Amino acid sequence: MRKEVLLIKLLQAILVIALQCNTLSAQKSEALTFHKDIAPIIHQNCTPCHQPGKAGPFNLITYQDVSNKADFIVYVTKTRYMPPWQADPSYQTYLNERLLTNEEIASIQTWVTQGKKEGDKKDAQSIDVPTGPYPERKPDLSFAMRSPFTISDAGKDDYRFFNIPTHLAEDTYLEAIEFVPGNKRLVHHSRIMTDTSHMVRHIEGLSANDSAIWQFNKYPPLDRFLYGWVPGNFPIFFPKGTGKKINKDVDLILNIHYAPSSVQEEDLSVINLYLAQGKIEKEVKTITITEEYILNNRFLIPKNTKPYFEAVYLLDTTIEVIAVMPHMHYLGSSFKAYAITPEKTEIPLIRINKWDFNWQTSYQFKELVQIPKGSIIKVEASYDNTAGNPANPTFPPRDVQYGWNTTSEMMNLVLYYIEK
Ligand code: HEC
Repeated sequence: MRKEVLLIKLLQAILVIALQCNTLSAQKSEALTFHKDIAPIIHQNCTPCHQPGKAGPFNLITYQDVSNKADFIVYVTKTRYMPPWQADPSYQTYLNERLLTNEEIASIQTWVTQGKKEGDKKDAQSIDVPTGPYPERKPDLSFAMRSPFTISDAGKDDYRFFNIPTHLAEDTYLEAIEFVPGNKRLVHHSRIMTDTSHMVRHIEGLSANDSAIWQFNKYPPLDRFLYGWVPGNFPIFFPKGTGKKINKDVDLILNIHYAPSSVQEEDLSVINLYLAQGKIEKEVKTITITEEYILNNRFLIPKNTKPYFEAVYLLDTTIEVIAVMPHMHYLGSSFKAYAITPEKTEIPLIRINKWDFNWQTSYQFKELVQIPKGSIIKVEASYDNTAGNPANPTFPPRDVQYGWNTTSEMMNLVLYYIEK
């Protein structure tokens, strides 16, 4: 007994000494400075969007920029509102993720409490904004919108469809797909689809709320999601020896969300395609788990309700997943997708705890995720069609059903994969 008490006393003493040493070394170490400690975090994670002509509402480049907004930056990083990243990192991590570490968030806080020291300009590094996996390679094929689109000055979000005939002479395999917004300030996000029916060419420039968009029900796109883009996102790219096929003479369909503007501006966005190099051993395919796979309910979202839907997809081959892309509209509140193997192991794909329509993208895995034959892929999504959902586009809420319009709803999970 006495031995134990002694031991505890000894441990306490060591702890006290350790704590004192710690504070001493913290006092001795120099205060954090902008050029040495903070600029690398900001330039890597914030400047890609917060610079002239990009989506961020102000610049975060210089000491002045960052120091002026310092308290705000502490707040938005602590709450993880910025940089925008929807997927829950405790569930799954990705190649294209942009997230601050806890240490980086703490450094920003410490720098502000220590008085926002600028430090020595000699420590300043050149602003090295990541440009994606292909900084050197030029696209093989580049398709601009047919003509510039004039974004209205009505001060409202605007969703438009565009159709770009490619006139490709043969089926083509892609290694990467990139979207380059023409108007970097107002193009908020975009999504690329493909169509081989050539029956929806007249949608050019149409609003997503135009009833003609229902044509998509008659002529569904071949690929509902070739690629989804939000500001700051890299191109999607596929592993060596694989390629995503686009068909001969395919039309590319662009769905662009323009942010509200008080002045008329033009947009001429471009889709860049990089052809797969070398021999294609495996074709990149997609599975789209849609509303049709919902088992627990009909896909209806009555006003003033918060329904939950579960879709199940049975896998009849072993696949290796490259990327996933979830999709819902404004009523979506949470989204989760995972596989359950025949041995009942759960393979996490994606979890978004607080869905935000504005930050949809494809999530590319660091390593291919293998899902064995006989597994089921499960998608769980909840919606909030009450007046308490600030994103609800209709007030007072009304009954909502499936549709392409942003005032209707969808529930999709796209998986880009190769067969094992
Ligand atoms: C992917 C692009 C992107 C990245 C990366 C990004 N931002 Fe932003 N940021 C935006 C956009 C767009 C807005 C305006 C819309 C909004 O507030 O949601 C914004 C708004 C803000 C705001 C104002 C928030 C408000 O409520 O008005 C702050 C502060 C901010 N960002 C700081 C940062 C910091 C700090 C980083 C890096 C740690 C960062 N942002 C990274 C795009 C980005």
